[in-house]
Amino acid sequence: MFEYLTAGESHGPRLTAIIKSLPAGLKVEVEAVNEQLFRRQQGYGRGGRMKIESDQVIINSGLRHKETLGTPLSMTIENKDWQNWVEVMAPDKEAEADMEALTNPRPGHADLPGALKYNHRDLRNVLERASARETAARTAVGAVARQFLNQFDINIYSHVIQIGNLKSETWTDIKAKDPERFKRESDIKEYFDELDKTELRCGDTARTEAMKHLIDSWRANGDSVGGVFEIVVTGLPVGLGSHVHWDLKLESKLAAQLMGIQAIKGVEIGAGFKGAGLPGSKAHDEIFYNLDRGFYRKSNQAGGIEGGISNGEELIIRLAMKPIPTLAKPLHSADIISKKETTAAKERSDVCAVPAASIVGEAVTASVLASSTAEKFGGDSMQEIKRNYDSYLEQLRKF
Ligand SMILES: Cc1cc2nc3c(=O)[nH]c(=O)nc-3n(C[C@H](O)[C@H](O)[C@H](O)COP(=O)(O)O)c2cc1C
Repeated sequence: MFEYLTAGESHGPRLTAIIKSLPAGLKVEVEAVNEQLFRRQQGYGRGGRMKIESDQVIINSGLRHKETLGTPLSMTIENKDWQNWVEVMAPDKEAEADMEALTNPRPGHADLPGALKYNHRDLRNVLERASARETAARTAVGAVARQFLNQFDINIYSHVIQIGNLKSETWTDIKAKDPERFKRESDIKEYFDELDKTELRCGDTARTEAMKHLIDSWRANGDSVGGVFEIVVTGLPVGLGSHVHWDLKLESKLAAQLMGIQAIKGVEIGAGFKGAGLPGSKAHDEIFYNLDRGFYRKSNQAGGIEGGISNGEELIIRLAMKPIPTLAKPLHSADIISKKETTAAKERSDVCAVPAASIVGEAVTASVLASSTAEKFGGDSMQEIKRNYDSYLEQLRKF
């Protein structure tokens, strides 16, 4: 379930995503997909491309009267910029004789290893697919997965907690400051929804100003900016993923797919690297029980996963994004044809895309969790999956 493919070049006619297997009877709102595409296009520090594109999904198959048929769901997103690239990116015409190849690879991008591996003499053949434009397709897939997860009251949020070397509070810090504030799901949703109205998706307003200033000043130097964002998932039942084999562990699935997002270079679950420095007595979450809540914890150092299995607490993941490789003041490079010293290519580019990456992170998390949920509860239709889910919850209550 939720196995998918994406295809499409950054300046080609369109992006395509196909979700191979979905349960029948899932209600999918196209507007909810477009809303996620819109969120991915926002954020302080983005480049000119996002001003050209206003992504809208077209559903080509798998949906009838807003409900999935259980058949492959295929979606496309037009690239408006294609109009400017019809000749350069023509799928069905020979290259024009005067077309200049791109031959000066950017350090940190796929340009050089991609050209060497695929024996390309024009770096465009590599960068068009390596480009994070592809993440629009994954965001559309994630938007369908989210609608599936909503049926089980599973919600996915994110916020930016570091831009360049400026850090802000983590979700655990924010909750610790005011434990009464986030007792209900609606309070959590309201907090994260408000972040969508801000330019950096960071809850600390004073910090946001400093972060924007950092982006501006690094941009003025011809530089780019990375950062860290955090994903928070509420409503996960105990029991997604498994301890029985390494590749079934929930965190191994999450880490593999989240590391598949362009420019993501680190994934932490729960206390992560900080946890490694704590004594065991402080690094683990003591177990409590009462009749209302069943088994529960008063802390969440594990970040919601123990032994590869969701433990019923919030899932907390942090992702490190490296600075964008395309620089206005380009780095030293070597031409792939002449082999002479040169400077790296200067494509139109974002300076900072951490807020956008956080939306892609939500989408990828949604697709992993939707797949794990469908796997755990099984079934070809939503009715069947929900029945299995309800009876599992009953089993947990009686445990
Ligand atoms: C949302 C998002 C937007 C990005 N925008 C750009 C960009 O405008 N220019 C650029 O050079 N890299 C951009 N990147 C990063 C590159 O796509 C990425 O660094 C490159 O494909 C090499 O892959 P790697 O960093 O995973 O090794 C972006 C990444 C994301 C997630």
